[in-house]
Amino acid sequence: MNEKRKIVLVGTGSVGMSMAYSFMTTGGLDELVLIDVNKEKAIGEAMDLQHGLPYARHNMVIKAGEYSDCKGAQIVVITAGVTQRPDETRLDLTARDTVILKDVTENVMKSGFDGIIVVASNPVDGMAYVAQKVSGLPSHRVIGTGTLLDTARLRFMMSEYLTVSTSNIHAYIMGEHGDTSFVPWNNAYIGCKPLLELLDEKKRDLSDLHDIYTQVQQAGYEIVKRKHSTYYGIGLSLNRLVQAILNDDNIILTVSAYQNGEYGHEGLYIGVPAVINREGVREIIKIDLNEVDQAKFDKSCETLKEINQNAID
Ligand code: 2OP
Repeated sequence: MNEKRKIVLVGTGSVGMSMAYSFMTTGGLDELVLIDVNKEKAIGEAMDLQHGLPYARHNMVIKAGEYSDCKGAQIVVITAGVTQRPDETRLDLTARDTVILKDVTENVMKSGFDGIIVVASNPVDGMAYVAQKVSGLPSHRVIGTGTLLDTARLRFMMSEYLTVSTSNIHAYIMGEHGDTSFVPWNNAYIGCKPLLELLDEKKRDLSDLHDIYTQVQQAGYEIVKRKHSTYYGIGLSLNRLVQAILNDDNIILTVSAYQNGEYGHEGLYIGVPAVINREGVREIIKIDLNEVDQAKFDKSCETLKEINQNAID
């Protein structure tokens, strides 16, 4: 990797721009290039961000660009896609977003790009699969945001429930970024203490966990119902993932990663905890799922395999 931290964002809708804006306050980039099918929109967004630079954390180059700008970028972030309507699931977007993802990925690769692709377009597990197949990049260099946002929602809700900082909530949402996701509660810890042990001591009702999961699972729908789309949460999730790659963090994040049999399935993208560094997915962390959770994971995989087949195979 070269030293300049350059990323290209494809898709300047609310999700992409929330990520872009977040870099003004966190810093962490040297160059941010915006691409959109609507070139005027990309130019306008770049101008708007540029005007905030005097008050941003660090100076950086921000510009509207072309696919040729992908050459030499470390990361291309793809957020392009259609907006989910309140009556649609993420999976309902498959056909329309597959067309977009194929086109975008082909254009990115034509530039000579040889970095890491991060996909946020929904259904994100299926779209990461499409991006990997079309790009031909090694699978560890194509990453979907997966259940990164769902895990953030879970940590936020658990933090409220237990009055413990989100940074001490070690619990993951795994599986599809969608209706078949699940939480392996047996593998959840508060600090170093097993969550179930803590709840038992505090005489909390285990059904609370079911309610919390349901709130996480429904969160996207609840937001879409009220404000038509979700973007701040995913924008910050993207910021964290991009920084993990650029800073070689070796941090464990729940992303959509290509499966090589770690959890008994191969040849698909799905949300699992993985170590992220400058190589992309360094390795998938294998946690011991109990039978019930493994069955949930299997179901999530079956759902996604069908999606992938319809999308590309
Ligand atoms: C979200 O979960 C809709 O996937 C989007 O916020």
